[in-house]
Amino acid sequence: MLPLGILLVSAAVAAPGPAVVPGPAVASPAARLAPEAQSPPAAVMASLGRLMFFDPTLSASGKLACGTCHDPRYAYGPPPGKALAIGGKDMAQPATRAVPSLRYLHGAPAFSEQHRFLDGDVGPVGGFTWDGRAGSLHEQAALPLLAANEMANAGPADVAAKLAHTAYAAQFRAAFGADIFSDPQRAYAAALLVLEAFQQIPEEFYPFSSRYDAFLRGELELTEQEERGVSLFKDPAKGNCASCHLGVTRAGRPPPFTDYDFVNVGVPRNPRLPANADPNYYDLGLCGPLRQDMTEKHEFCGFFRSPSVRNTAIRDAYFHNGVFTSLREVLHFYNERDLFPERYYARNPDGSVHKFDDMPRSIPNNVDRDPPLDRDPGAAPALTESDIDDIIAFLQTLTDGYSGK
Ligand code: HEC
Ligand code: HEC
Repeated sequence: MLPLGILLVSAAVAAPGPAVVPGPAVASPAARLAPEAQSPPAAVMASLGRLMFFDPTLSASGKLACGTCHDPRYAYGPPPGKALAIGGKDMAQPATRAVPSLRYLHGAPAFSEQHRFLDGDVGPVGGFTWDGRAGSLHEQAALPLLAANEMANAGPADVAAKLAHTAYAAQFRAAFGADIFSDPQRAYAAALLVLEAFQQIPEEFYPFSSRYDAFLRGELELTEQEERGVSLFKDPAKGNCASCHLGVTRAGRPPPFTDYDFVNVGVPRNPRLPANADPNYYDLGLCGPLRQDMTEKHEFCGFFRSPSVRNTAIRDAYFHNGVFTSLREVLHFYNERDLFPERYYARNPDGSVHKFDDMPRSIPNNVDRDPPLDRDPGAAPALTESDIDDIIAFLQTLTDGYSGK
């Protein structure tokens, strides 16, 4: 995490504004920094960020706050039935992707195309959103504020103008200067930074308060079934889940249950997404269409960032397109993708199975073949039905808010 002062400097520099003139060699810090580069204390930023996060008046419809889609009661993920959210000016624009939880993003590295993972594999990693296209949480916050199917503001000045009319505009002025709203670019940059500061509050965004965390702290024992579930989750020949949903302690912190890596696991097309009514529309993750800088890198088409599986048991929509509605379906998919593809993929006109039906046929097959996704038809599945029960029991220990009972 960068010090907020540095972030504010970079955001202020990116915006048109008075140049920062280097001061004399020996100057007080205040004299060296232009007023717009002085950052309020982190706690002040975070509390302003909290007010913004839950404020629907910052959307064109007046009905949508960040917290509407990212609900703290659901680990800052979607409330039941709301993962494929509706937004826009008229609250009628459908989403193309499932709302992720905003917890446990604190360890996400900057996006990189050639990262060497612990196991020696090299590939893309990091960044924010399912395709890693936002480089930081403050850059990310701009996306929903301006997206036509989300908060639908016309531009930065529109956001700044709405902000100037909020009940907490005075607090904004107190923190950033009385004239903050006279420079919409600067007000907008400040808004993105306070949203970021809010999303860095540990108790809210990485509380490590699950039953499994209590177990790691030595406060309780797991049940035998949960213990079997952990072993299967980690066993490279069984679930092998931990190879992507990292289960080990890192940098002194409990496991994030993701290593923020990108792979194509061959998620089926979701016919319930209105965008998919167009047979030529494909959400290909790293290679577009939302992400625009890697569209020619076909080797990365269909690559999405692996999410943390913390708090996954309270979701009702799984994967980037929300195609599955239960953990059991997800587990069956991992176990059976190549054994019974007809259970997951649409049919071709001739009745044969169209495997990996959410990828255009022109893109070379780059679908992951790591266990348990390494079977050929007729082979034994990696997991039995009772193994699946055990893994689900373990995943349920990863829900935050365990009260000690
Ligand atoms: C209409 C529902 C909706 C609203 C409102 C919304 N988001 Fe999101 N959020 C999403 C979806 C969907 C994604 C996934 C986007 C993608 O992958 O392109 C997402 C992704 C994110 C991510 C990236 C998470 C990750 O795993 O990398 C962050 C951070 C985030 N939102 C923060 C915010 C903030 C801050 C606001 C308010 C300014 C906000 N969101 C408003 C639906 C919403
Ligand atoms: C090769 C890497 C890899 C392996 C192995 C793997 N996953 Fe995943 N997992 C991913 C990626 C990538 C995604 C997101 C894919 C997408 O949305 O297109 C994902 C998504 C998920 C999700 C959906 C979470 C959400 O918020 O939507 C769950 C649950 C999950 N995996 C559980 C598991 C379990 C349990 C195992 C072991 C049986 C496992 N994964 C094995 C990479 C992997």
